[in-house]
Amino acid sequence: MRITVLGCGYLGATHAAAMADLGHEVLGMEIDPDKRAALARGEVPIYEPHLDELLARSVGSGRLTFTDSYAEVAAFGDLHFVCVGTPQQAESLAADVSQVEAAFTGLAKHLDRPTLVVGKSTVPVGTAERMAEQLATLAPAGADVLLAWNPEFLREGFAVEDTQHPDRIVIGVQDSRAEKQLRDFYASMIDAGTPVVVTDYATAELVKVASNAFLATKISFINAMAEVCEATGADVVDLADSIGYDPRIGRRFLNAGVGFGGGCLPKDIRAFVHRAGELGVEDAMTFLRHVDDVNQRQRERVVHIAKAMVGGTLAGARIAVWGAAFKPDSDDVRDSPALWVSGQLHLSGAEVTVYDPRANTTARRSFPTLAYADSAVEACHDADLVLHLTEWPEFREVTPADLEGVVARPALFDGRNVLDLDAWRSAGWTVRGLGRR
Ligand code: UDX
Repeated sequence: MRITVLGCGYLGATHAAAMADLGHEVLGMEIDPDKRAALARGEVPIYEPHLDELLARSVGSGRLTFTDSYAEVAAFGDLHFVCVGTPQQAESLAADVSQVEAAFTGLAKHLDRPTLVVGKSTVPVGTAERMAEQLATLAPAGADVLLAWNPEFLREGFAVEDTQHPDRIVIGVQDSRAEKQLRDFYASMIDAGTPVVVTDYATAELVKVASNAFLATKISFINAMAEVCEATGADVVDLADSIGYDPRIGRRFLNAGVGFGGGCLPKDIRAFVHRAGELGVEDAMTFLRHVDDVNQRQRERVVHIAKAMVGGTLAGARIAVWGAAFKPDSDDVRDSPALWVSGQLHLSGAEVTVYDPRANTTARRSFPTLAYADSAVEACHDADLVLHLTEWPEFREVTPADLEGVVARPALFDGRNVLDLDAWRSAGWTVRGLGRR
């Protein structure tokens, strides 16, 4: 099929490259000239495992090209995927849907033949219905332009795998012709057994935010338990393992630590709370405010613990931070707990040196006043305290022997609860985790 993808960020670039790899002809629309030029050369402007090979293959085959013209997009194909971002608004908890609105209005006026527009962006419930009205009003082809909402659930670090092998396909439609077109488009995945849920627009929009709200709730639940564990001498990892054996609960997303960050979970739960308020059901979503508060408190607790571990005064303390990305296998530092903690420690007068295997460059752009090292060991030079805040596998490889003679004081805090604390303790280190014995 000839398809287009509007917005080539994480979601759009991965969708465009994966669909071209499946054999479709794809035109990507990206208004940022630098990003567009990089993509057209087959270069991925972000770090995402396997996306570089996939993009290079798709661009190299000639099946994936890029443009900044809505007219070209409309002329190219009859299936258009809207994948633009919906960040949090600067002055409110709400999602900023201006890029979605711009994509729909920009495209609509060029749609002069039967077409299906597919929204994949994460939007406040009710947006799809509004966009359907926009299309009906602005598109020259009028009622022949259909809309479907088809949320995307990809995780950073697994974007390619999740796009090629989704765990479900959700299709929100008002018209069975739109359903048929999307079923045809996703035929190879559906034939491979991927479950399909066909529903209305509102449910399709809600599935995405409800998923992220549930995941965030799970993380804040275990983080709240970590605080209780600390007050009682219990161990949150043993607790999570034990409750996780109950298949109704499940062990995934029960890792206590410095909390969730990134471009999705934090802003999606806030936008959900805001939208619930607009809909008059804010009370039903109050718990999500607590989920957000627990998450924020984790970051603050890490700052307090760090302060205590350096003897009560952060001013002048030298602190090494392992990790800057909001999670491993990503260079994304949006709302990253590791960088938030680093920034706070620095503001309190500590000398903070950060090392992240992939995110030093993106971190430096957001936090240029922090120092950055080229390796985990280098970051620890003369450190009074080492904080492990993003669980890249290479940090688990560092041994106490590697840091002998490097640090000023042998003190380690594991903010992701994955290091072997006993091994560090037996080497004479003072160690702490969150909610750990
Ligand atoms: C999330 C959703 O998982 C994905 O389905 C959706 O499409 C986009 O948002 P992502 O932002 O890539 O994906 O990150 P995710 O893997 O969900 O992790 C989010 C944050 O939670 C990270 O900061 C991670 O470190 C943290 N986390 C995750 C925990 O603190 N504990 C856990 O047990 C799991």
